[in-house]
Amino acid sequence: MEPRPPDSDATNAATAGTGGRNALRALVAAGPTHEPIDDVRFIGNRSSGAMGAAIAAALGQAGCEVTFLRGPGVPEVPGCSGGRFTTAAQLLESLRAAWPGHDLLVMAAAVADYRPAQRLQGKLRREDGPMTLALAPTEDILQGLASTRRPGQYVVGFALERPAELMASASAKLARKGADAIVANPLETMEAPDVEATVLFADGSAATPGRRLPKTEFARWLAALVLPRAAARAAGRG
Ligand code: CTP
Repeated sequence: MEPRPPDSDATNAATAGTGGRNALRALVAAGPTHEPIDDVRFIGNRSSGAMGAAIAAALGQAGCEVTFLRGPGVPEVPGCSGGRFTTAAQLLESLRAAWPGHDLLVMAAAVADYRPAQRLQGKLRREDGPMTLALAPTEDILQGLASTRRPGQYVVGFALERPAELMASASAKLARKGADAIVANPLETMEAPDVEATVLFADGSAATPGRRLPKTEFARWLAALVLPRAAARAAGRG
C-alpha cells in the first residue's frame, strides 16, 4: 500500500505535463441514470452523486479544468462546466463527445446495467396478475471509453461491490474494463456520508487512506493520488 500523498502533489501535478496548456482537463461523471419505462416511470438507483461531485470539486481545487456531467438530482459543482444526463444513452453520447478533449476520466456514475427494451408511450395501465418487463443491457460506457482512449489519457473507474468479495471483484472489473485505476467501494458507500475505499491500479499496486473518511476528504486524497499519474501519462511518461 502506498502512503498518503501530500496535498501539494495534486496541485503540482494538475499543472504539470500539459504541453503548453496550464491545467490538466478532467472529465467527471456522477449520479444515477434513469431509464424510462413509460412517460411517468423509470428504472433507477439510489446513487446521490455526492462522491463524484466531491471529486470534481477536489480536482478543480487542485488546478484542473473540470467538466462535470451530472445525473438526475445531482447539483452543479461551482467552477465546473458540463451538463446533465438522464439515461445511460445520453451519458454515453455526452462522454463520447467530451472525452477526446480531456486528459483524465473519472467515471463515478452509477449507470443502469439494463434499460426497458421498449419505452411505452403514455402511462402503462394496471392490470390484474403479474406483469413482465423486458430489459435490454446498456452499453458498458467505461469499457468503451477506456478501449478507445488516445495516448496521454488516463481512466479511473469505480466498483461497487459486496464487502466479502470487494478486492477480488474489483480487480476483475479493473482488468475487464481496461481502466488505469479503479476505486473499490463496499455497497454501503452509496448512501453513506463516509467512505472506506481502496484504489487498485492496473500495474498491480494498491492504495488506501487506511481509515474511513468523509467523501470530501476522500476526494482530496484521491485527487492527490491520481493527478501525478494522470500528469505523467499526459506528458508521455506513464
Ligand atoms: N459502468 C459503465 N457502464 C455501465 C455500467 C457501469 O460505464 N453500463 C461503469 C461505472 O460508472 C463504474 C464501473 O463501470 O465506473 C463499475 O460499475 P459497477 O456498477 O460497479 O459494475 P458493473 O459494470 O455494473 O458490474 P457488476 O454488475 O458485475 O457489478
